[in-house]
Amino acid sequence: MIMATHERQRISMLTESMQQGDGERLHQLRARMAEEQLDQGAYEALAAAITQMQTPFNMLNAALEMLQRRVAQQHRDEQLLTILMAVREQGLTTLESLRQSLPQRQLATPVSVNLNKLIHEVLLTLTERLLATGIVIDWQPQKVLPALIGWESRLRCLLMQLLDNAIVAITVQGDDMRSIHIESMQQDDWLKLVIHDSGPGIPAGERLMVFEPFHSRWPQTPRHHSGMGLSMVQETINLHGANLIIDPDADGCRIEMHFPLFNGNAV
Ligand SMILES: Nc1ncnc2c1ncn2[C@@H]1O[C@H](COP(=O)(O)OP(=O)(O)OP(=O)(O)O)[C@@H](O)[C@H]1O
Ligand SMILES: [Mg+2]
Repeated sequence: MIMATHERQRISMLTESMQQGDGERLHQLRARMAEEQLDQGAYEALAAAITQMQTPFNMLNAALEMLQRRVAQQHRDEQLLTILMAVREQGLTTLESLRQSLPQRQLATPVSVNLNKLIHEVLLTLTERLLATGIVIDWQPQKVLPALIGWESRLRCLLMQLLDNAIVAITVQGDDMRSIHIESMQQDDWLKLVIHDSGPGIPAGERLMVFEPFHSRWPQTPRHHSGMGLSMVQETINLHGANLIIDPDADGCRIEMHFPLFNGNAV
């Protein structure tokens, strides 16, 4: 695709010029993104773990009720009951400490965000990976895109998570056809963002599960994946009053998002 090649060349030219004159900026951008992702990732993982820990406690409560009845009727297993009650006590105390240690979320005031600029920045930080994996980016940004009122670092993180998944999916598949198509455009009162990769896609039966925290199903990847990416993406979508669908009819994985635009937004 001609556009794809142009965009790829454009990215590598930009990277070269940044390496020569502005490499420091790219370095800072990478560091800032790593920090932002770590912050959001650590928070979401802890919050999700606390919620999930409730399930074994509910099971333990049910088991304790059964055991209590048995002890009352048959006067057996008192010791086991005492131990399990102590286990529950200790576990609940630890869970409460974790809950208390969750930092209060201080969301900054939303600002005017230029989505194209963010896509461009994230692609720049990924250039080496894209070139190394032979993935072509096909992106024809709408020249003048209305600004989005939102949280820049969250949106940058969303783009990074989705593009990371796209790269992993294509690499895991190992086909010759390696492309990521990106669309960013205004559609009435919405800003439409599409990320469509040529990988194997997400099977129909998994399209809900993939948004659950800690759900990771990549077959053998060199890097560890915690399964938090799409869960964080979903948080950001909700925060912005946006919506996201995984296109059921597309080849590969096509994720389409719509962000609401408000009157008077202008870049
Ligand atoms: N573009 C995609 N193509 C195919 N499968 C995908 C794609 N994106 C996500 N998935 C599937 O959804 C799962 C969950 O994705 P998610 O980003 O939440 O976690 P992860 O990539 O496994 O881990 P992490 O993002 O924390 O590195 C993935 O493990 C993979 O099975
Ligand atoms: Mg991921």
